[in-house]
Order: sequence, then C-alpha cells, then structure tokens
Amino acid sequence: MLRNSKNRYGLVTKLLHWLIALGIIGLIGLGWWMVGLSYYDSWYNRGLELHRELGMLVLGLACVYLLWKVVSPSPPVQSELLSWEKMAAHVAHFLLILAMFAIPVSGYMISTSAGAGFSFFGLFQVPAVTAISNEMRDLAIDFHYYVAYGLIAVILAHAGGALKHQFIDKHGTLKRMLWG
Ligand code: HEM
Repeated sequence: MLRNSKNRYGLVTKLLHWLIALGIIGLIGLGWWMVGLSYYDSWYNRGLELHRELGMLVLGLACVYLLWKVVSPSPPVQSELLSWEKMAAHVAHFLLILAMFAIPVSGYMISTSAGAGFSFFGLFQVPAVTAISNEMRDLAIDFHYYVAYGLIAVILAHAGGALKHQFIDKHGTLKRMLWG
C-alpha cells in the first residue's frame, strides 16, 4: 500500500521517513566529525562537499515528504495515547518537520554566502540565489549549529516515545512506521 490510510502509514511515507531520519542523523555525525579535521587531512574538503551534497538531498526529500503529506494525509496519532502524549507527539513532529527545512536552508545560505554555487555530486551546480553579508552569514552559522545539535534532544524524545509505546505500552507504534 503506497498511500497512508486512516490508521496506517503507507510505503511512500515510511521510505521517506527513514531516508530523511538516516540522512539527518548521518549529517549531524558528519558535521561534528568534519569540523574536527585539520586542513591537511585528505577529507578536509571532501567532508564538507559531501555534507553540502547530502544536505541538499535531505532538503529535496523533505520537499517530497511535505508534498506527499498533502496528497496523502498521515493517520491521526493513536487514540490510546494520553492527551499530553498526543500533544507532545504533535509538537515533536512539527519541530522535526521544521528542522528538515531550517537546517539545510541555513546550510545552503552559509555555502552560497559569497554568491557562488557549488557542485552536486558532479552532476550539476546548485546555484546561489544571492550573496549575503558577513553578519547574516555568522547568524546562519550559529543557527545551523544550535538547531542541528538542539534537534538531537527532539530526536531522542521522539524515538524514546516511539519505543516506549511499542515495547512498554504495546500500542504497536513503531510497527506502524515499519511493516505494520
Ligand atoms: C532525524 C530523525 C527523525 C525525523 C526527522 C523524524 C520525523 C518524523 C515525523 C515528522 C513523523 C510524523 C509522520 C507523519 O505523520 O507525517 C514521524 C513519525 C514517526 N517516527 Fe520519526 N523521525 C526521526 C527519527 C525516528 C526514529 C529514530 C524513530 C524510532 C526509533 C522514529 C519513529 C517514528 C514513528 C514510530 C512514527 C509514527 C508515530 C505515530 O504512529 O504516530 N522516528 N517521525
């Protein structure tokens, strides 16, 4: 089943969810690792290039995810949840979706701040929309940093909730996003 139904996630949402989740978690790890490299490390430039390219890929997937959410709306949060848990799940989903866009867009602003684009896996150039001032660039760097590391707390709460409702409360929550 490709589309979401009243009480199940469809294949498209499941695939997009796990690709984006893997991409974001991988990019946080890659970002943390690459900033610790010395200028003479062979991965110094390639690490940053890969981070930019995968970041643009996640942005593309996030756009498809949001469009698909309009075409095929998600099932409601499970009725077994307490009302504060439903509210917490909605807030976490909202923050996760916001971050899927906010982190790559700020990364794009940093990468194109001088008004030049960059290559996407050697296939084409990602164009720069406009050059930005040094102050704007510094703001985008801080935003990218704090939102990316702040997101770890949201991911842990989100994954923790999914695991608790699957294995402790036995609501089958994780199964709904896997094969259920
Ligand atoms: C960066 C990482 C992640 C992001 C951005 C993310 C994002 C989201 C979003 C936006 C939703 C709402 C889906 C919708 O209704 O359209 C969702 C649902 C879900 N996520 Fe994640 N997620 C991430 C990681 C994880 C992890 C690590 C787990 C499990 C350990 C997980 C398990 C689930 C489950 C089970 C649901 C369905 C909840 C329900 O049935 O109400 N997610 N996720």
